[in-house]
Amino acid sequence: MITIAVKASRDYDILIASGLLGQLGDRAKALHPNAAAAAIVTDDTVGQLYLKQAETVLKEVGFSVVAYSISPGEASKNGTQYLHLLDWLAERQITRSDIIIALGGGVVGDLAGFAAATYLRGVTYIQIPTTLLAMVDSSVGGKTAIDLKAGKNLAGVFYQPSAVLCDPDVLDTLPEPVFQEGIAEVIKCGMIGDGRLLDQLLNEPIQDNLSHIIAACVTIKRDIVERDEFDHGERQVLNFGHTVGHAIERLCDYSIPHGHAVAIGMMVETRGAVKKKLCPPECLYLLESLLHRFQLPGHTDYSAQELYTAALYDKKRAGDEITLVIPREIGRCELMTLPVAQLLAWIEAGCQS
Ligand SMILES: NC(=O)c1ccc[n+]([C@@H]2O[C@H](COP(=O)([O-])OP(=O)(O)OC[C@H]3O[C@@H](n4cnc5c(N)ncnc54)[C@H](O)[C@@H]3O)[C@@H](O)[C@H]2O)c1
Repeated sequence: MITIAVKASRDYDILIASGLLGQLGDRAKALHPNAAAAAIVTDDTVGQLYLKQAETVLKEVGFSVVAYSISPGEASKNGTQYLHLLDWLAERQITRSDIIIALGGGVVGDLAGFAAATYLRGVTYIQIPTTLLAMVDSSVGGKTAIDLKAGKNLAGVFYQPSAVLCDPDVLDTLPEPVFQEGIAEVIKCGMIGDGRLLDQLLNEPIQDNLSHIIAACVTIKRDIVERDEFDHGERQVLNFGHTVGHAIERLCDYSIPHGHAVAIGMMVETRGAVKKKLCPPECLYLLESLLHRFQLPGHTDYSAQELYTAALYDKKRAGDEITLVIPREIGRCELMTLPVAQLLAWIEAGCQS
């Protein structure tokens, strides 16, 4: 068992171990001895695979269990679904001493987390991430959200869970393209904070090291979140590859998967940094080799001008300035604020081969 302690507005542990889903009941009981009911939020695909086991182990330790399932996918992370979930919790008479359990990928985690944060002004919740992306990224750090018509994740709060249980066994059922999207975020973590992780990804079979790879990513994110829980500065470094990545998603109306857009974004942003002599070329070669190894794209047909126009919507823009995440060496990125007027030149440099 790997335990990673998080010190934030609520302290909690992130546990990583094979078979952890089978321990959900005991662990939930130990954390919340006075809770009578557990409300599981899942999606239809994950529910079919893992809901029964989760319900059984929770009932074995005395919880009364209710379950709410959404259609899989981003389209379910909306205001209507959120209010429906709150009504459902109220109808099931879930109280502040009960617990909510998010069993699923990032969509379930973000929606259930936001509901837990706001229902009765806050009910404790446990995250059981079931995708690689959710294990290494969305379940860590307490960002919860739903999408609005104007864009993704536009309504949400910071609300930390009481525990995160990562059971890598559940990744066995994950479709390959969804796993691959998680790999893009794993590479991002390595680029931000752990050159050894990148080395390991390039040279060792990933399946043999999954728990340690998840732990390495979680540790990087944990360290950053502990220093900047509410995203006022350093936490933005986790958006490496996302300025261009989000621009690509916006341009294609989200038809390109997020992980692919981030992979291309990392390449453009790293090449830009190399061209500006802020980053050694080895960093770009390594990134290129990793994307190649995991069959992730590194090139876009959108022009620099198109990417620039779409990137002006970036969250890290404030008035006439925009903050970019710049790789400075293998395993280290820095924030750099520049006038928006210079962004086009950056993207142009990043798009040239
Ligand atoms: N809160 C944060 O800090 C944060 C960070 C990154 C991303 N996110 C959010 O995460 C979401 C994306 O998460 P995701 O990539 O996990 O997508 P997802 O939750 O949509 O899951 C992807 C697909 O995999 C299926 N699935 C999940 N686990 C499975 C399993 N074990 N076996 C078989 N199928 C399984 C799901 O049913 C779904 O169809 C986005 O909404 C994004 O905004 C949040």
